[in-house]
Amino acid sequence: MQGVFITLEGADGCGKSTQAARLATALEEAGREVVRLREPGGTPISEKIRALVLDPANAEMAPECELLLFEASRAQLVREVIEPARTRGAVVLCDRFYDSTYAYQAAGRSIGEGTIRRANALGSCGVDPDRTLVLDMDTDAALARATCDGADRMEAEGVAFQRRVREGYLRLAAEEPGRVRVVDASGTLDEVSARLALALADVLPELAGGA
Ligand code: TYD
Repeated sequence: MQGVFITLEGADGCGKSTQAARLATALEEAGREVVRLREPGGTPISEKIRALVLDPANAEMAPECELLLFEASRAQLVREVIEPARTRGAVVLCDRFYDSTYAYQAAGRSIGEGTIRRANALGSCGVDPDRTLVLDMDTDAALARATCDGADRMEAEGVAFQRRVREGYLRLAAEEPGRVRVVDASGTLDEVSARLALALADVLPELAGGA
């Protein structure tokens, strides 16, 4: 069986994690091995980096330091988990990948796009997703959901930052329509799952019939 690498993207609070869990269940029921991951994290080293980069106590973190920490976490995840899983034919379902760096560090933090692309090429070890789904919804509603239990360092940036993140994702989808698809994240869980399954139909035909 051919390995497939799917990434889920979107601003904080868009409902990615819930949908990733539903997608994983649907794929497992269809007989696929699913490896579910989230960035930053997914290996012991990457989880340590996650704690460092999201800690609200690290308010003085420089944008370049933040960028390199996300990339360091990613490189470890690619080498240790994603590449081997893909090679043995699994479906890798990753909650965030290098498009988050584009949306948050380029669109959000205004680091130059050329710098981000070079950093992403290194951090991803040249591995690209087969399909990227951007869950899109109203910024205010998403941020309210994300911060109802308190904000991490990124969520604490506020609504104008999250708006730039959303616009960054929409720009990416316009630039790379083959790989990146925008999915309306409003409505019921079942409605959103059905939209995701449709947007994956060509790369994961086993999802046909609804997730
Ligand atoms: P997390 O709690 O996993 O958020 P979510 O559930 O919304 O995915 O925190 C990850 C945060 O890190 C999130 O605010 C997005 C941010 N992030 C970046 O800024 N750049 C990156 O490259 C990645 C992977 C995440």
